Amino acid sequence: MRVVYVDNNATTRVAPEVSEAMEPFFGELYGNPSSMHTFGGQIARYVSEARERVAALLGADASEVTFTSGGTECDNTAIMGVLDANPDKRHIITTRVEHPAVRNVCQHLVTHGYHVTELGVDGEGMVNLDELSDAITDDTALISMMWANNETGVIFPIEDAAKIAREQGVIFHTDAVQAVGKIPIDMKKVPVDLLSLSGHKLHGPKGIGALYVRPGTRMTAYIMGGHQEHGRRAGTENTAGIVGLGKAAELAAANMDAENTRVRAMRDRLEEELLKRAAGALRNGHPIHRLPNTSNVAFEYIEGEAILLLLDEQGICASSGSACTSGSLEPSHVLRAMGVPYTCVHGSVRFSLSIYNTDDDIDCIVEKLPPIIERLRAISPFVKT
Ligand SMILES: Cc1ncc(COP(=O)(O)O)c(C=O)c1O
Repeated sequence: MRVVYVDNNATTRVAPEVSEAMEPFFGELYGNPSSMHTFGGQIARYVSEARERVAALLGADASEVTFTSGGTECDNTAIMGVLDANPDKRHIITTRVEHPAVRNVCQHLVTHGYHVTELGVDGEGMVNLDELSDAITDDTALISMMWANNETGVIFPIEDAAKIAREQGVIFHTDAVQAVGKIPIDMKKVPVDLLSLSGHKLHGPKGIGALYVRPGTRMTAYIMGGHQEHGRRAGTENTAGIVGLGKAAELAAANMDAENTRVRAMRDRLEEELLKRAAGALRNGHPIHRLPNTSNVAFEYIEGEAILLLLDEQGICASSGSACTSGSLEPSHVLRAMGVPYTCVHGSVRFSLSIYNTDDDIDCIVEKLPPIIERLRAISPFVKT
């Protein structure tokens, strides 16, 4: 059966160029980049080249990039590292719609005596920066605010938020796992101190990520041990993953235009057709300030899980609002924070596209999904006939 994969915010296909670049590191290029010998030095040069490529995608300097095991480790490192280095301050500001990699760390810190302010969002999933300014106190150690939301694709005004933090002397972290590679980012223009990214969201491998750290940011290492990554993150480097991430970053820069034109056009057509053809369909999230690849649609009065199962039978891979807490049938904390009515939260489906999708994929979803919705609404006890 043909597979139509529209779950790219969960993970992406590894680009063939990326697997090709990684291959030698499972074979002849097995050396340790920290070794003193010439062979080690040869591997270290590949690691440096990858660092340059990741830095280039961010408009950063290579010295500002630390490789990690992925987005979750970046988020944990940023939060715990800053708090550890600034023990006098016990207040964190974040938002109600963060990924669990930030949210659960902040909630854990509450049990250790920290005070956490979670900023709310409006019905379109947008934060209000006046509320951010008001929340800052002398005790605030860190602001952690995602660049783009993984469920709705909503893009937060990170440049303005980071400026507010800078003016108040508060360290600013952004989880940019969903933003990097999809929208242009230039760290020379945006006063963000720490930024998390993850390889597998941009056609790189899983288990590799990078944390951007602005020089002068007060923080300690979270993973302790050897002196790798200039003492910022211990552990023998995942050389294959690092090289793969470097290649993925280079490709992402080259594909940025396609992402923002071709992918956006496919996403828009998909969304427009679904809103037109499927009964009770509503868009979740801001219509404009949104990633070009993401559409989150609520189908009123029916269960998202049932929609996903029936789509799956047709070879279509999408996810429900609760994708990132998959395995749980809890309604999405993001959609609830937006005040999406209960009758819609459960019936929300996220479609997230990539450059590997085609117009045929969109045609297939537009053809198969509306009859599925009709079928489910016909048996829904909540739809009045
Ligand atoms: C916004 C966001 N942050 C963090 C993560 C975690 O990244 P990783 O899977 O690399 O640990 C994800 C993954 O879904 C994400 O979407």
